[in-house]
Amino acid sequence: MCGIVGYLGKKSAVEVLVEGLERLEYRGYDSAGIAALEGSAIEIVKSKGKIADLKAKLNGNLSGSTIGIGHTRWATHGRPSDANAHPHRDCTGKIAVVHNGIIENYQELKEFLLEEGHIFLSETDTEVISHLIEHYYKDNDLFTAVQYATSRLEGSYALVVLCTDCPDRLIAARKDSPLIVGLGDEEYFFASDIPAILKHTRRINILDDGEIALITSSKVEVYNSTGKKVAKKEMYVEWDAEAAEKGGYDHFMIKEIHEQPQALQKTLSGRIHSEKGIVDLKEVSLDAEKLRNINNVAIVACGTAYHAGLIGKYAIEKLVRIPVEADIASEFRYRNPLIDDRSLVIVISQSGETADTLAALREAKKRGAHVIAVTNVVGSTVSREADDVLYTWAGPEIAVASTKAYTTQLVAMYLLALDLGTKLGTLSQEKAAEIVKALAEIPNNAAKVLEQAEKVKSWAKEASVWKDAFFIGRGLDWAVAMEGQLKLKEISYMHAEAYAAGELKHGTLALIEERIPVIALATQEELYDKMVSNIEEVNARGANVTGVTFEGNKELEKAVNQVIYIPETLPLLAPILSVIPLQLLSYYAAVERGCDVDKPRNLAKSVTVE
Ligand code: G6P
Repeated sequence: MCGIVGYLGKKSAVEVLVEGLERLEYRGYDSAGIAALEGSAIEIVKSKGKIADLKAKLNGNLSGSTIGIGHTRWATHGRPSDANAHPHRDCTGKIAVVHNGIIENYQELKEFLLEEGHIFLSETDTEVISHLIEHYYKDNDLFTAVQYATSRLEGSYALVVLCTDCPDRLIAARKDSPLIVGLGDEEYFFASDIPAILKHTRRINILDDGEIALITSSKVEVYNSTGKKVAKKEMYVEWDAEAAEKGGYDHFMIKEIHEQPQALQKTLSGRIHSEKGIVDLKEVSLDAEKLRNINNVAIVACGTAYHAGLIGKYAIEKLVRIPVEADIASEFRYRNPLIDDRSLVIVISQSGETADTLAALREAKKRGAHVIAVTNVVGSTVSREADDVLYTWAGPEIAVASTKAYTTQLVAMYLLALDLGTKLGTLSQEKAAEIVKALAEIPNNAAKVLEQAEKVKSWAKEASVWKDAFFIGRGLDWAVAMEGQLKLKEISYMHAEAYAAGELKHGTLALIEERIPVIALATQEELYDKMVSNIEEVNARGANVTGVTFEGNKELEKAVNQVIYIPETLPLLAPILSVIPLQLLSYYAAVERGCDVDKPRNLAKSVTVE
């Protein structure tokens, strides 16, 4: 996601900020900017594109300033542009703000501020913060203004504020978005990530949710949400620069696997109301009348995103009762698909740039279909060309093998199915409320699955010598099996196949022999007994079976060699949780085999050629 650096000390602030932002480049961004106090005025320089573009714009200016804030932006609200880049200022030009996170109630706040006469220069949610601080700012009391302003924000934020009236201090606040204070020698820093300040100090304070911190050149003070001063524990960072980029993990892939609870929370944030039991997808412009005109749905994607599409097919058919095809984009575009102006086409693409997916989108548009894009990258080509866009908000995914993008795509598909089913009346309010409630618990449940990482790690040791592996399941479990086998192939270079369990006896069973590893997913209640019969079929041929099922289902232990448990949820939502042990299995097996986990051979993160 975005990166923040703030500096106050004796050095040239711009130099420290730009260098800090460069340390955060690996996270991905689309624009960058800095604000520095020069004399009695705040100067803001920002640019779409790379930090090199920002440097060119700075052209060595502002080098005398010793206090400033910097930001790398990865677009969420508003496309990548100079105007949308941070820092954002208030109307008077006295206040500048950088922000990470998403302000969910920014529309409501913006309307309020517009009525008060504020003028906005960007499309971002962040800009409401600088104006809100201005609204509450009086008697040179920036701290109280930040306290009041943050109390009105809903969503997540890490923010740092610079003000011309307070040339000796920076103020920062956080909620659900990381922020640290770097403790130097007569210099202090704010940063969203450790690499940004590692060159200058290894001593840090980690801010907690609801805290507001103030730094001057000689001290740091931290206050909790009730305004009480808190004593923070000083931490010492042992990591080298490379480990710090990965948040202390060995690879981006495992970091991203562990980021899933937060990523899932972000995808859901502002889109469900669990008390009311409703879903609110403002992004989808299809109302009931337009939807009644839709005869069929096609979901089109590549790779992991296609596997998310398979789950989407199940969810939409189940909740919306409309025929859905899930198609591989490179097949769809060349097979004269049965798509017209009464079709809904959903394209799924983490990057939003995959050539085949883009071509499929264009084909669908040419045929008059309504296109919804599910993507992780704001301003990507699919987001620009689709009729509606549903962002997954998973944050930048760096490892080639997709993990958090996949699980957040699943959430997007469930949200879409809920939205369409509710509008069309194919889904009762009670059922919708039950699913919404279960979705709200998914981030916590995902965190619980991750607690089993050590258990999966020892399983992966065994797995690292496998020659072949078979993933089996029925219904939604089959779709998850597809993703499980792909993960194992792409990063561990092991042969793996996924089969619909009921189909085994029509051929694949011939390959099952003594000790062959089989991973059997068994989370679908309606198909459970049939699935156990299929497990018995492979057992009878001597397979070594690992089952994946819900906690409390001790029955499965009788039929398999070992069981990996996931927390209970609705069977419909099980894929979000059951895929996590499979991601961990591939990761640890790949590490054990000495594979280049984050950059597997022959593969690319985003395939922009046919
Ligand atoms: C490549 C990546 C996969 C990804 C696929 C689709 O093959 O290696 O991890 O699933 O492209 O990418 P997209 O950006 O369209 O989701």
